[in-house]
This record gives sequence, structure tokens and C-alpha cells, in this order.
Amino acid sequence: MLHHRFSAAVLGLSFLLLLLLSTTVKGWRPWRKNATSMAAADLEFGSSKKYEGSSEFVKLKYHMGPVLTANITVHVIWYGTWHPAQKHVIREFINSISHDSSAAPSVAGWWKTVQLYTDQTGANISRTVRVGSEKNDRFYSHGKSLTRLSIQSVIRSAVTATTKPLPVSPKSGIYLLLTSPDVYVQDFCGQVCGFHYFTFPSIVGYTLPYAWVGNSQKYCPEVCAYPFAVPSYIPGLKAMKPPNGDVGVDGMISVIAHEMAELAANPLVNAWYAGGDPTAPVEIADLCEGIYGTGGGGSYTGQMLEAHDGATYNMNGIRRRYLVQWVWNHLLNYCTGPNALD
Ligand SMILES: *[C@@H]1O[C@H](CO)[C@@H](O)[C@H](O)[C@H]1NC(C)=O
Ligand SMILES: *[C@@H]1O[C@H](CO)[C@@H](O)[C@H](O)[C@H]1NC(C)=O
Ligand SMILES: *[C@@H]1O[C@H](CO)[C@@H](O)[C@H](O)[C@H]1NC(C)=O
Repeated sequence: MLHHRFSAAVLGLSFLLLLLLSTTVKGWRPWRKNATSMAAADLEFGSSKKYEGSSEFVKLKYHMGPVLTANITVHVIWYGTWHPAQKHVIREFINSISHDSSAAPSVAGWWKTVQLYTDQTGANISRTVRVGSEKNDRFYSHGKSLTRLSIQSVIRSAVTATTKPLPVSPKSGIYLLLTSPDVYVQDFCGQVCGFHYFTFPSIVGYTLPYAWVGNSQKYCPEVCAYPFAVPSYIPGLKAMKPPNGDVGVDGMISVIAHEMAELAANPLVNAWYAGGDPTAPVEIADLCEGIYGTGGGGSYTGQMLEAHDGATYNMNGIRRRYLVQWVWNHLLNYCTGPNALD
């Protein structure tokens, strides 16, 4: 649903109404508007969707499940054809999360909002996030069109491989499946750019928190790599220049960040989420999708930064710049990020 900048009262009211109708508001990605597919999206787990961030009506609750308090190791599965340069941008983004010495506003500063979430014992989400083992699935072991279930089979293949299997670490490991532009995944583009869930022991042998994020370069950059690509149906809208020169990969960064924040705060989908329906949880990044800076909301991204080469970004990593959406801060009751202007 495309919201524009209505008054807070109107937004609040429409938000309440939507809650009562128990439907989800799509975040401001330029989703294709289609009532049928939106209803189907309500059944999705941890996919990209958003509430406008009207604080009074957001009731984010803790449901007593675990959060990722141990040092987080991200095991990456590169599915399909990936160039070393693309891997480098993504790997370095993940390692930037714990890199405190990046110039402000930093990726580490962005993760501080995620660290505000705690478990039953009061332990915070870990500040340490590192890329762990990696697995290349170069020959598309499960084809070029994946379903939610076949994604789990890809993970199974990676953790049970005869040579260099990915380690199994359900307490501190998260599994990130990244698909190349020529791979289609169920609901990609029309409804989701990525999602997270956990694997089923019956398929994988273990319960492992995982996320999938697709490179949208071929199928729908105007949806999943927005604002580095823009839909042609919106006249006068100009695409921003991506900070690492790769529309697909730069667009993936914010979706990877979205899913990692939610995996940390809701790894088994029984910890931090809003909404009464656990089959359609609204999570800490859903609430801020499309918001990259101060004033963001509706179709406005908020104030971002411009590099000397004209690229748009909002935070610094180890050696590179990135554009990453903000995350819900449950202490302040609004979306926050490291580039906030106060
Ligand atoms: C809406 O989505 C449904 C299911 O995805 C599809 O069958 C239908 O043709 C779509 N309608 C429009 C107007 O795009
Ligand atoms: C841990 O979470 C609490 C509650 O949200 C917060 O007050 C505190 O600052 C957090 N600690 C860290 C290190 O983020
Ligand atoms: C967690 O990471 C920190 C570095 O951030 C390290 O000092 C510590 O030893 C790690 N803990 C474990 C249990 O590996």
C-alpha cells in the first residue's frame, strides 16, 4: 500500500483500522499493488513488510523466546553465479557490524538499535557478528527456481556436504542463502525481497535460523533494489547512484540487514514481534522498511548522505559505504538509525 505523508492522526487511524482488519501494510518498496497477492502476503513469515511507524499503535511485544545473545556467526551460501567483487561487498558489510572504528554514521552504530533487544534473563543481542564459513552452490543444486521448501533443501545440502560442510551451530549460527540474479524464488518481487525463518528438523535435520535474500538485478531491481532502481510508473522519480556501483548487490545490503536484525531479535519467531498473529509477525525491521533517514516515512526515504561521486548512502562500513534501512527502537517507540539528525 502506498502511503503518502498524511497527518499523524490520519496515519494513526488508518493504522488502527488496518490492525482491526488484521491485514498488513506493505512497506514503501514499490510493491505491485494487488489485493489478492497482498492477502497471500499475510501468510508470509518474516518477509519484508512494514507499518508506517506510528508509535502509538505499534505494540511490539516480547513473547519469551530466545534472541541471539551469543556471538553471531553468519554462514553464507552463495547460490548460483557470484563474482568475487560482489561477495566482497556483502562479506565486508556483515563484518562491518562489529567494526567499531568505522567513521560515524557507521554500520556498528546501526546495530546498536538491534542490541537493545533482550531475552528473559535480560541478556542483550550480541554486538559481535562475523562471517563464518561459506559454501558455493555454483551449479544450482536445486535448480533456478526455488520454493520455500526447496530453500531448506539447499541448506540441507550445505550442512551435509561430503566436502567442507557448513558447521551446524543452532545457538549462534545463522544461515544466509544468497541467490544470484538468474534465480527465481517463490514470491520474489511481487511480495518479498527476502525472508527469514528456521529450518525444519524433518528436512534439514536441525532447527537453524536462516534467511534468504535474492539479487533482484534481473527480475525486479525497481522493487527490491529501490531507490537504486525506480519503477517507470512513477513519473519524475530518479534512481539514486548505488554506493558500490552494483544496483543488485547494493540493493541486497538493506534486505540482508533487515533479515539479520529480525533473525537476531526473533530467530525462532517466538521472541520480539508486534501483532496478535504469530503466523504473520510484524518484526523490528518491518516497522521501518523504506526509512533510511530523519523524516522518512510514507514514500519518503528520509535524509540520506551523498558521497563525492554522487552515490547515495547512509552509513560507513570497514572500507565502504552502504544504504541500510532503520530499525525499530522499542525504548523510544520509533525507528532509529546512526545518521539521525537531532
Ligand atoms: C493479482 O494477483 C493474483 C495472484 O498473484 C493474480 O492471479 C492476478 O492476476 C493479479 N491481478 C492483477 C490485477 O494484477
Ligand atoms: C541492553 O538492553 C537494554 C534494554 O533495552 C538497554 O537499556 C541497554 O542499553 C542495552 N545494552 C546494550 C549494550 O546495548
Ligand atoms: C565473542 O567475541 C568477542 C569479540 O567481540 C571475543 O572477545 C569473545 O571471546 C567471543 N566469545 C566467544 C564465546 O567466542
